[in-house]
Amino acid sequence: MEDRAIIQLDHVSKSFTVRSGIFGGRKHMQVIGDLSLSIGKGEVLCLVGESGCGKTTTGKLIVGLIKPTSGKILFEGKDIWSMNNEEFKNYRKAVQIIHQDPYSSLNPVHRIYNILSAPLFRHGIVKSKSEAEEKVLELLDRVDLTPPRDFIYKYPHQLSGGQRQRVAIARSLTLNPKFIVADEAVSMLDVSIRLSIIELLRRLKEEMNVTFLFITHDLAMAKYFGWEGRIAVMYLGRIVEIGPTPRVIENPLHPYTKALLMAIPEADPQVTRSKKPMQLRSLDIPSLLNLPPGCSFNPRCPFWIEGTCDREVPNMYEPEKDHYVSCFLFRGK
Ligand SMILES: Nc1ncnc2c1ncn2[C@@H]1O[C@H](COP(=O)(O)OP(=O)(O)OP(=O)(O)O)[C@@H](O)[C@H]1O
Ligand SMILES: [Mg+2]
Repeated sequence: MEDRAIIQLDHVSKSFTVRSGIFGGRKHMQVIGDLSLSIGKGEVLCLVGESGCGKTTTGKLIVGLIKPTSGKILFEGKDIWSMNNEEFKNYRKAVQIIHQDPYSSLNPVHRIYNILSAPLFRHGIVKSKSEAEEKVLELLDRVDLTPPRDFIYKYPHQLSGGQRQRVAIARSLTLNPKFIVADEAVSMLDVSIRLSIIELLRRLKEEMNVTFLFITHDLAMAKYFGWEGRIAVMYLGRIVEIGPTPRVIENPLHPYTKALLMAIPEADPQVTRSKKPMQLRSLDIPSLLNLPPGCSFNPRCPFWIEGTCDREVPNMYEPEKDHYVSCFLFRGK
C-alpha cells in the first residue's frame, strides 16, 4: 500500500487554542492526536464517528486548509508543508473538498457560471468566455444537471438542495482532481436525494479514477458508498478501528464500533427487535479539554479492564489480516 499511497498522515496531531471556563482563560485543545493513515490510489476510505470527533478537521488537514500542530501530511510521498510553490499549487489542484452544507458553500451572489469558471480561469485552463462556457456546460452535464443551459446562468438560491450539491460536486471536479474529500456530502439532503448523489459520486469515481475520503457520521452511508473500500472509525480524534468495510461491518472489533453499529436501524423489523442494545457505562462523551487517561473510550466501555484501559493508550493490533483495532481486548491476538 505504501508505494501506491496518494495521501499519508504521519503521526499528525492538531490542537486549537480555545477559551475555557467562566473567566475565558485560553487552553490548548487537542482535536486530533497522533493520527497515522495511508490512503491508496483509487481507494475509498470512509471516516466515521460521532459529531465533534474530528472528522472535518482531518479533512481540512488533508486538503491543506489547516496546518498540523505536529506530524506530516504527504501527497504522493511529498510533505505538503515543505513543498515549493509549484508543487503546492499542483497539490491544491489535485486534492479537492466537497463541504457538508450546500446552502453555505456556494456564494449566493454569483451565478453557477461564475462559481464554476473562476477556478478554470485562475489555473489558466480556459482563456476566453466561450471556452469557459463550454467547459462549464460539460461539468454540469457530468453531474446530471441537464439540460445544462437551464442551469448555467442561475443563482444558487434558484436551485434545490440536491441541485446545489451537484454544483458543489461539479466545482470539485473543475481541476480534474485525483483525490476528493467528501465531507458529509449527503447528510443535509433529503433521504430520497441522498442515494442519487451517492450514485453520482460512485459513477464519477469509476469514470475519473478519483480516490475518496468519504466522511460521514452515518455508518449506513459508509456501508453503501464504501463497500469495496475501507472504514476508519474515529473516536475523540483517534482512529480506534480500521479495516475493509465488509469486515468492519460484519465483524466489528472495537466496543465503540459495535455500539455505533447497534444504532443502525435494519430494514427488517424482526432483526431490529432481535438486536440487543449494548449497555454503555456512560452516555456522556468526554470533553476534548479534559480527556480521560488511557483509552478515551474507557469511561463508556462495558468491557473496560480496570488498571489497564484507564492507564495506558492501547496500540493498534491486527487480530485479522488488514483489520486493525486499538483496544486491549485484542492485545496479543
Ligand atoms: N478552528 C477551530 N477552533 C477551535 N475549535 C475547533 C476549530 N475547528 C474545530 N474545532 C473543534 O474541534 C472538534 C472537532 O471538530 P470537527 O469539526 O473536526 O468535528 P466533526 O467530527 O467534523 O463533527 P461533525 O460531525 O459535527 O461535523 C470540535 O470540538 C470543534 O468544536
Ligand atoms: Mg464535520
